[in-house]
Amino acid sequence: MKILNVVGARPNFVKIAPIVAAMRKSRRLRSWLVHTGQHYDHNMSKLFFEEMGLPRPDVNLEVGSGSHAQQTAAIMARFEPVVERLRPDAVLVVGDVNSTIACALVAVKMGVRVIHVEAGLRSRDRTMPEEINRLLTDQISDILFVTCNDAIDNLVAEGIDRRKIHFVGNVMIDSLKRVRPLAEKSDVVGRLGLSPRGYALLTLHRPSNVDRPADLRHFLGTLREAASRLPVVFPIHPRTRTRIESSPALRRAACHPNILLIEPLGYLDFLKLMMDARLVLTDSGGIQEETTVLRVPCLTLRENTERPVTVAEGTSELVGRDRAKILAGVERILAGKWKSGKIPKYWDGRAAERIVRVLETVAKA
Ligand code: UD1
Repeated sequence: MKILNVVGARPNFVKIAPIVAAMRKSRRLRSWLVHTGQHYDHNMSKLFFEEMGLPRPDVNLEVGSGSHAQQTAAIMARFEPVVERLRPDAVLVVGDVNSTIACALVAVKMGVRVIHVEAGLRSRDRTMPEEINRLLTDQISDILFVTCNDAIDNLVAEGIDRRKIHFVGNVMIDSLKRVRPLAEKSDVVGRLGLSPRGYALLTLHRPSNVDRPADLRHFLGTLREAASRLPVVFPIHPRTRTRIESSPALRRAACHPNILLIEPLGYLDFLKLMMDARLVLTDSGGIQEETTVLRVPCLTLRENTERPVTVAEGTSELVGRDRAKILAGVERILAGKWKSGKIPKYWDGRAAERIVRVLETVAKA
């Protein structure tokens, strides 16, 4: 079975690495790697390839940034001839980014099977671009791999045939477990002048949080208050950096002696910063999952989540943009009154193995 694996944006690299590694060990599967080029900065892309031990992509579509329509359309137009040339039996996409839906759509229209890893997650918030990508990708997928039970319920409720769905666990956690020993050795905490459990780690990049200057200013105001309690490290996503730099008021709001603004980090340094943090504040999807497995308290800066298992079973709580909730959360964590959670089923580092086993069975049939 010839499979074309697709990646485009930062979280995709972490998810695809264990799948590529497991496929390489299989005698029944042959795989290629296509990078759409949605993310292209060294720290957002190449560094991850190096640290995750990913092979150089066989094809790079180099689409770069643009509006949603421009980016999605450019990926589709450039991906079609690749599928034409390589003639795979299946295209495998991960997550919920524009590259995911763009390549899935090209494949299904060319009669090529679509495999979706991390299917079925739903925030029920259709203003989120990722929610649209998830809904549409799942509708046109032939094989759907899920990370949790609620994803199965979501898919079945949307009319997806139960036989297409496979509960295999979480490939992001495969990566975390694999590189954790290397991350342990990172000196990033000392390099930034911090001490273990003595700081908060923040990430913020969702359009709904950063695109409107008033919302971003409100956030930065709350963070300044949190930063009076403990240092806050803020590796800043390019989208957020652009927003802050475009306004003198936002630049001033972000400037605080206890807020450490730094460039986006590679996976090893970031993992080490999460492991040693007293708490994490984030609007990312993957980080809610990683902190759950690391048992680090996580304040999720969103009104909803497509990953409710991280709240029900893990260490995360939804605090949205609510200043009082955020600051109360910080206090509760500092007082040691936070849940330690449990690790969700199959988040055990073996999801990619299970995926390959299912695909080998399909290949044999
Ligand atoms: C994308 C995903 C989001 C994911 C995030 C992880 C979609 C719809 N969104 O959001 O789900 O959580 O990646 O980071 O696919 N930029 C750079 N250098 C880069 C990449 C981006 O400077 O290497 C800047 C560009 O100005 C670009 C902006 O960041 O316009 C946004 O990038 P884009 O890929 O459109 O979406 P993300 O916000 O990164």
